[in-house]
Amino acid sequence: MLSAELNPHADFAFVGDSKMPGKVTVSLIKADVGSIAGHSRPHPKMMEAASSVLAKGVKDGLLNDYYVTRCGDDIQLLMTHTKGENNKQIHELSWNAFMSAAGEAKKMHLYAAGQDLLSDAFSGNVRGQGPGAAEMEFEERPTEPMLVFMADKCGPSAYSLPVSKIFMDPFTTTGLVIDPRAHLGYDIEVVDVVDHKKVLMSSPAELYDILALLGDTTRYAVKRVLHRTLGLAATISTEKLNILAGKYVGKDDPVMLVRCQSGFPAVGEVLQPFAFPQLVAGWMRGSHYGAWYPCGVNESDPSYHDGPPRVCALGIQITDGKIQGAEPPGSKPGDHSPVDYFAGKEWDLVRNKAMEISIYMRGHGPFMPGIVSPEDLEYTTRPEVLKKLEPRMKPLD
Ligand code: 13P
Ligand code: 13P
Ligand code: MG
Ligand code: MG
Repeated sequence: MLSAELNPHADFAFVGDSKMPGKVTVSLIKADVGSIAGHSRPHPKMMEAASSVLAKGVKDGLLNDYYVTRCGDDIQLLMTHTKGENNKQIHELSWNAFMSAAGEAKKMHLYAAGQDLLSDAFSGNVRGQGPGAAEMEFEERPTEPMLVFMADKCGPSAYSLPVSKIFMDPFTTTGLVIDPRAHLGYDIEVVDVVDHKKVLMSSPAELYDILALLGDTTRYAVKRVLHRTLGLAATISTEKLNILAGKYVGKDDPVMLVRCQSGFPAVGEVLQPFAFPQLVAGWMRGSHYGAWYPCGVNESDPSYHDGPPRVCALGIQITDGKIQGAEPPGSKPGDHSPVDYFAGKEWDLVRNKAMEISIYMRGHGPFMPGIVSPEDLEYTTRPEVLKKLEPRMKPLD
């Protein structure tokens, strides 16, 4: 472990710990509250229901702006406001949006209506109640490009490999070598998602220590990345649904926000690692390894064995505290047209490779490494099988 004098942020107070006046907060809060014919996509009526709640949030002065989208069966609420991270009113608004969408799902008898809403009533913060949240509060730069990542059918450590490449690998991010604003490196907050601990580590000084933790994707995940002078660079939802619920209800399906350019990695550097279709845990019943499939939002319905696990990347600008995409400036809150980065044909090669790898992994059926290790299996019958066999178990000769 690196000492405090080598790590300039050893006692860094996270900006989100309190509301800072004059800053903008981007909150991306997601939940699966039901979908059509299994775990595919929410019904448009559910999205409309969630949008109306957020539209009211703008009217009531809670939100500056919002955009409702989805990745696979997860509804994504992208919001901007000035209330800071973990704000009760913003979380309550999101909870109400999900409840309203779940109500529509229930009316249509859709599958797993209300899946990720682990309690009947809101208790102050959506974290711990089922939805996942990635939030960042920062001082808006004169131009503020941001990438919004949304994943389906996988766990939070799926982002650890790309984040390691984006912020710590000079062969991915040449900016680390040639951009004086990025040359200092980044601080990485690693969380132990099982024992609920976190540690802030410094790259490149502690690079190998960071990777020693992150390589164990069953336990560790990146929560935040910090630039030494510009503040938060990236934030990821690390909620583990099965740990919260005490049983398997669905997969975590994490989200990530990344600030780009001008001292942060360029958009192209942030997207590049997704050209490697890494194996991630999740997929069918949260219990299989599949190759991460980058795709556009409209192509994000999981269709092969409830997968393969997928990831979408939307590009937006944060402009005067609001969201700006390709829509006319000054459009109604909620009306946005982000750049759908993985929709392009360039990614066909990666998708084909991901499918080839996923079909290969499925060839293992219920055998490891097609399925995850026993500790990570979201469903298992093994204890009952062993109990049943106990009287028949004999010592080896
Ligand atoms: P920045 O100076 O904004 O990081 O731009 C670099 C760039 O866009 C290279 O692709
Ligand atoms: P979701 O978490 O996307 O609902 O997937 C659950 C599942 O088990 C799919 O097989
Ligand atoms: Mg689902
Ligand atoms: Mg999902």
